[in-house]
Amino acid sequence: MHLKTTLLAPVALGAVVAASRNVRDIDPCAQITHLVADANEKKVDATVPHDLAYQCLKSMPFESDLATTFLTNVRKILEFQSTVDFLKSPPSGYKMPSVDLLGGIDTILDKAKGDGYSSQFEMDFEISKLIKSAHDSHLVFQLCSQTIFNYVIDLPLVSVSSDGLSLPEIYTLNDANVKEQNPKDVSPLVSINGTDAAKFLETYAFSQALQDQDAQYNRIFPASARSVTNTPISVNGLWTSSTEWSEGPELTIEYGNGTKQTIEKKASPTERFFSYDNGTELYTVNCIPRTLNSALSTSSTEEASSEVPGLPDTTWKNSANSVAGYFSKLTGLEDTGILFLPTFSSSPNDVSRVTVEFLKNATEAGKKNILIDLTGNPGGSISIGLDLFKIFFPEETPYTATRYRAHDAAKYLTKAESSDPSAGASNPFGYKMNVQPDQKTDFKSWDDLYGPHDTLGSSSSSLLANFNYTALSSTIFPINGYGPIAVDPKNALFPAKNIAILTNGECASTCALFLKLMKRQGVRTIAFGGRPTESPMQGAGGVKGGQSLQINYLNGYIQQANQAIQKAAGTSSPILSTSEWKRFNETSPNLTPSYSWSGNINLRNEYDPEDGETPLQFVYEAAECRRFYTLQNYLQQETTWQDAVGSMFGDAGCVKGSTSGEGSLDA
Ligand SMILES: *[C@@H]1O[C@H](CO)[C@@H](O)[C@H](O)[C@H]1NC(C)=O
Ligand SMILES: *[C@@H]1O[C@H](CO)[C@@H](O)[C@H](O)[C@H]1NC(C)=O
Ligand SMILES: *[C@@H]1O[C@H](CO)[C@@H](O)[C@H](O)[C@H]1NC(C)=O
Ligand SMILES: *[C@@H]1O[C@H](CO)[C@@H](O)[C@H](O)[C@H]1NC(C)=O
Ligand SMILES: *[C@@H]1O[C@H](CO)[C@@H](O)[C@H](O)[C@H]1NC(C)=O
Ligand SMILES: *[C@@H]1O[C@H](CO)[C@@H](O)[C@H](O)[C@H]1NC(C)=O
Repeated sequence: MHLKTTLLAPVALGAVVAASRNVRDIDPCAQITHLVADANEKKVDATVPHDLAYQCLKSMPFESDLATTFLTNVRKILEFQSTVDFLKSPPSGYKMPSVDLLGGIDTILDKAKGDGYSSQFEMDFEISKLIKSAHDSHLVFQLCSQTIFNYVIDLPLVSVSSDGLSLPEIYTLNDANVKEQNPKDVSPLVSINGTDAAKFLETYAFSQALQDQDAQYNRIFPASARSVTNTPISVNGLWTSSTEWSEGPELTIEYGNGTKQTIEKKASPTERFFSYDNGTELYTVNCIPRTLNSALSTSSTEEASSEVPGLPDTTWKNSANSVAGYFSKLTGLEDTGILFLPTFSSSPNDVSRVTVEFLKNATEAGKKNILIDLTGNPGGSISIGLDLFKIFFPEETPYTATRYRAHDAAKYLTKAESSDPSAGASNPFGYKMNVQPDQKTDFKSWDDLYGPHDTLGSSSSSLLANFNYTALSSTIFPINGYGPIAVDPKNALFPAKNIAILTNGECASTCALFLKLMKRQGVRTIAFGGRPTESPMQGAGGVKGGQSLQINYLNGYIQQANQAIQKAAGTSSPILSTSEWKRFNETSPNLTPSYSWSGNINLRNEYDPEDGETPLQFVYEAAECRRFYTLQNYLQQETTWQDAVGSMFGDAGCVKGSTSGEGSLDA
């Protein structure tokens, strides 16, 4: 596509206009509109030059007043982010750089007040960068100008080790395939833009919402395509389709044999029928909230597929392929049953039904070991994690302990929700529905729950369990052995030493919690992939926070609290005094948004029984073993089970130096 250069070249301009294009098209957004229309006509995917997308985004206007209101609100929302104080001055186990989120917002706010931005994109990009530096997939902002394009580099790469233990090299996927037959014809990729390739990719992947550089590194390679339920293990994908805009129109890559190649960076509009005349229209439609006409839903309901490419057939699975059990015919897997869970955003009943039947059948079939494949699992419903743990270890009580951040808005929210008869069983702010981590002790009053307590310099609530399991467990959200759910199985079917967990480091949220609960019983973890270094790797490289909360829900709690306060205001027992209520209003976020956007925060930290002060996201925990991916592993996921089982239950070994890391010997 050379439309841009054609349009700008004076000689060609007449010809283009004659070909029914309008001079007005010179506006970068309008040029994209035409490129997209052409692509749709030809029924091909629309990609446009990276820099044209950038010019279009930069032409969005900036309105200082709206931005000021928005940022003031964002600051109040971030007061609820449980890690703000820890991120500013992290405990020593934290491997990512520190960040002052509130200070960062203040800086952006000052600049916005002074009309210091030339476009919405420019401001949003700074906010987005700041938020991403928390490396927390529970803290995510979808800002109006940041979701218009995906940025793509069409060069599928793999990081492959010849045997899973020696250091991997980076090849294009195509070359990796050729290498199997003709190793002399191809060379590994050694540098990108003059920087060592592995170093470059490490930096490129750095903004991912993971707390671990090895897990982030894996995101570059197609194995991460597995993370989405029902998405086949696509090895024909793009190098990355990150939503991260980056400087410059192209990349220069160099292979080991000296050959150089230039790769053009592209952008692809997220809207299939992208159609805007200019940046002002782009801004008005995407950033200014519409009162009636609610935003079009872009969620695609994915068709349940019967088979997952790269995996064997099985009868133990649900239709969404979000839980499955396998007996593999590959050599070395005769004694092992494999349970595969790519997500915890699943049907809770499917998970218990499939898992219980599979584990029972596996014992009947004489299987000795269970491998749980959690590759790419981003988490999901906590009740499923607790249930799954109780299916493996019915006699144990899963330990969960959380705290939320204490500040004025949270204090008055706790006071109000503690007196609110309509507050639900999963409301973290009401003292009556919450229990202490032992699941036996309740809270006596709102301030028994709220505290505050000083934990490593952060003001926090008392320790509360994620939920009262008995109150939470139901036929819809079963937790084995709690509430109306009869315990089944009654005893552990496999001892901890015969269970191993496989991850690629991209295990976050409920996945991290489940892994932690299993580890406390003595279950071991093997991590695959990561940077080319002989060192340990974390099994759960994603956020280990105890509750992800959509900002909509936070607003819902605040609205509900206000109603309860209002109701009690005229009575003999008001919930808040007038001055307290005023303070609550001042410190809690405004419910009317100034821009169209959505977001999420981490409301609660999660803690270990031995340490109720250091949030788990700041504790480094290496997997007991690590392997690198081989080409076979990328092409056929089943072979990762074979290699993992060889390392965990056989004598195939682990990457040198990977078994001696901090945290890897304490299980
Ligand atoms: C050098 O390596 C690249 C990448 O594998 C390959 O495409 C190219 O053909 C090689 N060039 C020569 C001269 O061998
Ligand atoms: C790579 O080099 C190109 C050409 O010199 C430059 O425009 C671009 O900014 C560089 N990209 C990165 C990500 O460093
Ligand atoms: C931008 O496009 C809209 C819609 O076509 C139009 O109404 C408006 O005048 C244009 N604004 C500018 C600054 O060109
Ligand atoms: C699993 O066990 C149940 C109950 O014993 C049995 O009915 C079923 O056929 C078994 N399934 C498989 C696939 O072996
Ligand atoms: C947990 O919830 C159950 C069911 O609602 C209730 O009976 C029990 O008292 C609660 N536990 C505590 C410690 O409050
Ligand atoms: C607090 O805000 C609510 C909702 O906007 C309002 O109804 C109430 O009067 C305010 N209270 C005080 C004391 O300002």
